Amino acid sequence: MHIDEAIRSRRAVKGYDPAFTLSSAEKDELLQLALHAPSAFNLQHVRLVEVSDPALRQQLREVAWGQAQVTDASMLVVVCAQVDSWEQNVGRVWEGAPEEVQAYMSGAIDTYYRDKPQVQRDETMRSCGLLAQTLMLAARGKGLDSCPMDGFDFDAVAKLINLPANHVIALMVAVGKKTIEPKPRIGKLPFNEVVLRNTF
Ligand SMILES: Cc1cc2nc3c(=O)[nH]c(=O)nc-3n(C[C@H](O)[C@H](O)[C@H](O)COP(=O)(O)O)c2cc1C
Repeated sequence: MHIDEAIRSRRAVKGYDPAFTLSSAEKDELLQLALHAPSAFNLQHVRLVEVSDPALRQQLREVAWGQAQVTDASMLVVVCAQVDSWEQNVGRVWEGAPEEVQAYMSGAIDTYYRDKPQVQRDETMRSCGLLAQTLMLAARGKGLDSCPMDGFDFDAVAKLINLPANHVIALMVAVGKKTIEPKPRIGKLPFNEVVLRNTF
């Protein structure tokens, strides 16, 4: 599928065929594609919790407004991120670069994040958003459907997946085969309202 068609035909699909399964290899291929999404300073904040346990999926559904996607989709990914990746992983993600580059990056990263909790958190959300969209487009490219979700109790989901204290949850993404056709796209704000030229 051409990338333009994947972008245009991706919709937030609510109904999935629970009998349609993806193999571990197929799921991993989608996740590998998604991991090509960019991350600031190459810090790779994102951590993907792929929930395949049906009992856990049911528990997640109960704290996600009962949304059927959570149990019925072929793959459910809780998109999380490590908030202190800037501090913990800087040595690893720049390993292999020339020494002067490593020294420069490590200084720049420290200046950018240290003592700036809002920046640290914002950065995880940017990375998770880009990853989620990459995952959904990768899925669409393979003829699959998807739904991004933040309609859930974040604290309850954190408990269920044992989220470590230095991590946050951004959203969930369901991927599968649709059984319910999405309603026609409505309510798109006018192009000239959402696209500004040079300044507001
Ligand atoms: C961050 C985010 C959270 C969302 N949460 C949910 C959700 O919990 N349940 C749901 O059915 N759709 C959810 N959606 C899907 C939106 O409702 C949908 O993207 C929007 O209505 C536009 O429709 P489209 O994606 O089909 O173009 C979410 C979308 C985003 C970006």
